[in-house]
Amino acid sequence: MSAFLPFTSLSPLELDPIFESAKSAAAAGPNAINGTIGVILDEEGYVLRLRSTKKALNLLHENEPLGYSPLAGVPEFLEAAKKLVLGSAEPIPCIASSGGTGALSVLLRLAHATGIRKVILPTPTWANHQRVITAAGLEIEEVEYLENDQPSFDALSDKLSSLTEPHIILLHACCHNPLGLDPLRKQWQKLSDALKSTEHLPLLDFAYQGLGDGVEEDVYAVRLFKDADIPCMIAWSASKNHGIYGLRTGAALVLAPLEEHVTIQQHLEIISRSIFSVAPVTGQHIVAITQEKFYDEWMQELADVRESLERKREVLAQIVPVLSDRCANAKGIFLTLPITDEQSIELQKQNIFLAPGGRLNIAGIPEGRMGELAEGLKGCVLD
Ligand SMILES: Cc1ncc(COP(=O)(O)O)c(C=O)c1O
Repeated sequence: MSAFLPFTSLSPLELDPIFESAKSAAAAGPNAINGTIGVILDEEGYVLRLRSTKKALNLLHENEPLGYSPLAGVPEFLEAAKKLVLGSAEPIPCIASSGGTGALSVLLRLAHATGIRKVILPTPTWANHQRVITAAGLEIEEVEYLENDQPSFDALSDKLSSLTEPHIILLHACCHNPLGLDPLRKQWQKLSDALKSTEHLPLLDFAYQGLGDGVEEDVYAVRLFKDADIPCMIAWSASKNHGIYGLRTGAALVLAPLEEHVTIQQHLEIISRSIFSVAPVTGQHIVAITQEKFYDEWMQELADVRESLERKREVLAQIVPVLSDRCANAKGIFLTLPITDEQSIELQKQNIFLAPGGRLNIAGIPEGRMGELAEGLKGCVLD
């Protein structure tokens, strides 16, 4: 081996905390209660396979197109994603991406290309946001997302009115990760009114459509900004709502005045080309076929998942009353529990695994084991 050590200047990095916690849960064996990574599991602890997307995959198998798609993505997928997000396949700038993370990356780079350099990030937030933002060459300014334990845009609005330059504002469109607590509709409306008179650019991270109140209900914030003519970027993911996490399927959409559409689309395509060229196509075909042929079944399956999440929150609230407010207000697959890292390590001795910060993915726990989880948490969160 050569004596040349070209990589010694690299400093060691902390590994990804969520993937690391998932690794520990997996290493603990099939009996572990795995509330770590944000994946929806079935009663046996396997990744939930939706019947609708499975049927779409079977149809695709025979003749799966293996070539490159156009740079923007598979046209039928783009149409399906736009319909889900906007209600109709409007001709807005839109590009397929490698999951919701890819969409965030592309959109943050697009915003960077306009000259914006800073992102206002209400925290706590998904642990990967910080990395994706800095990798796009942008700086982060954090503001508090909670006030008296409830979502609030007050700190954000104060911040916005004090800024003289345009900033990106990164918000969870629904099913906040890691808190599971979303703003009320009147709070969104107030924010929308405040944004109308500014030049700040919202980026809505939309990774959980259909897992909050419903496929249509969860688009509230997107449509509110659209109806108010607020330029806005949307990072949409098909990972969770189609159960195709590893197929890396998502879309980046941009709401902007018509005269800007052509240039925005060119930028989206060239940014994508420079990061991952074209997005993977298999998941795009699955989404397109699911939406075209198995829509009703897919809607029912998402309703079933939501009901199951609700029942699980009820069990938790019943056995651990101190969590009942959190459970009553929560949307989506996550809750953040009021426990310390030491308590989390103690829980691992009982085979219960959470993501760092006390984040619990209730979609990862079989209904049949919610009682066991709740009993395990009981001592911990009451201390
Ligand atoms: C808030 C949030 N945004 C984006 C993503 C990215 O999803 P994907 O796996 O599609 O890249 C996730 C996934 O966990 C998420 O929780």
